[in-house]
Amino acid sequence: MSMWKEHYRVGSDLIDTQHQELFKRVSRFIRVVQSEGPWEERLEQVKETLVFMQHYVIIHFADEENLQKEIGYPELARHTKIHEDFKAEIQEFAQTVEREGFDEEKVQEFSAKVMTWLIMHVGREDQKIGEFLRSRGGHK
Ligand SMILES: [Fe+2]
Repeated sequence: MSMWKEHYRVGSDLIDTQHQELFKRVSRFIRVVQSEGPWEERLEQVKETLVFMQHYVIIHFADEENLQKEIGYPELARHTKIHEDFKAEIQEFAQTVEREGFDEEKVQEFSAKVMTWLIMHVGREDQKIGEFLRSRGGHK
């Protein structure tokens, strides 16, 4: 089950599709992290997700910031800063596990943190873009 909700839509097909993909991948990530079985066997998928997140988040944030620019969204600078901070967090986590090893507990904590962030960000912060978009008659 994905954690994506219909009311998360902001009204841009590109952004909404990317958000759904993010929820799908992070949901799967949590499932793998919490499932039974030897950690070593699940580790491959954990590593894969981390690589995916690092790349996909950069693309998605850039697309979302471009949309904000395009529509003249007044909170672009603040929103971009939130994106930058999150990218840095993922980067930092990736570097830590690369250096210290993929500790199961650390990865669990991280997966929960990412999901919480996603829910809060897409469910609140990104909704403001949706509201702004609707106030000016939707996305062309
Ligand atoms: Fe965002």
